[in-house]
Amino acid sequence: MKKDCSKKINGEFKNKSIISLEQFDPKSLQTLFSTIEKIKKRIHKKGNFTPLLRTVTTLLFFEPSSRTFSSFSVAVKRLGGSTLEYQNPLQTSSVVKGETIEDTLHVFSNYSDLIIIRHPEKGTAQKAASLGLKTPIISAGDGIGEHPTQALMDMYTIYSHFGKLNNICGLFAGDLLYGRTVHSLIKGLAFYPNNHLYLLSPKELRLEPGLKKELSKSGIKITEIYDENDIPNNCQFWYWTRVQKERFNDLKQYEKVKNRFVITPRLVQKKGNNKMIIMHPLPRVGEIDTRIDSDPRAIYLTEQLQNGVYTRMALLSLVLGKL
Ligand code: CP
Repeated sequence: MKKDCSKKINGEFKNKSIISLEQFDPKSLQTLFSTIEKIKKRIHKKGNFTPLLRTVTTLLFFEPSSRTFSSFSVAVKRLGGSTLEYQNPLQTSSVVKGETIEDTLHVFSNYSDLIIIRHPEKGTAQKAASLGLKTPIISAGDGIGEHPTQALMDMYTIYSHFGKLNNICGLFAGDLLYGRTVHSLIKGLAFYPNNHLYLLSPKELRLEPGLKKELSKSGIKITEIYDENDIPNNCQFWYWTRVQKERFNDLKQYEKVKNRFVITPRLVQKKGNNKMIIMHPLPRVGEIDTRIDSDPRAIYLTEQLQNGVYTRMALLSLVLGKL
């Protein structure tokens, strides 16, 4: 493997791989948010803009995906670019014949301008970015590691609601051990002062202590809770997540902890407030009572999804240096 090329963003996205929220800082996030706003305005005005014309983006997904795959695909096409799409390359590419992932990545880096990769193994996107390829890499989720683009759209969603990312009180619930979306989002929120995050999970699925310690050094306040009665009433967001069956070797363990915490109208009534938003990265498998879907505070089937496309459009434009 060649040297690490997933550098700090420092306000300049062009040709940089996007692997972790650790590469970001408030200034770079503001650049991204401003670009999202510009793109949203142009879309709403039905403006014709094709900055990715004559570019090709490879989507290489070794793990199933509905949202990340499709929203990246749509984002590229809305910007005038083309895609080379592999869902399930373990069955549809020469990986099935024994080709290494490194060789596969070299191939696609010769055919396209950018590679977006999802892989079940933590660290794969980082390894890909360290290969010294011609193209930057964007991680679309690496196992139990991170899901940076999900966090970027979630941060934008919180920002667009509250006009800030500091002085925020939020609740994360569900699988905080294996939940890569949570890992990235907490890292992002840790850049801003006076944030207080409550982490509600079964004890077996609490945030990895090393990561918690690392995050706490930044000054972010983290309070772990194990009972929904301990949810404070003043959270600005609830970020619920699925307990991920695919991360368990022992399915008995999964059965023991799945849906330990479910959002119900009763819970929202008891522990929510009028100004909060309810988020979920999806997919969900029973941890949200579907009666919540029509609550105006629930944005996981609407705004959060739409922001996924806008955020990915902005990121693609910035990384490919075209807008
Ligand atoms: N939120 C998310 O990553 O969904 P997909 O697994 O469907 O891409």
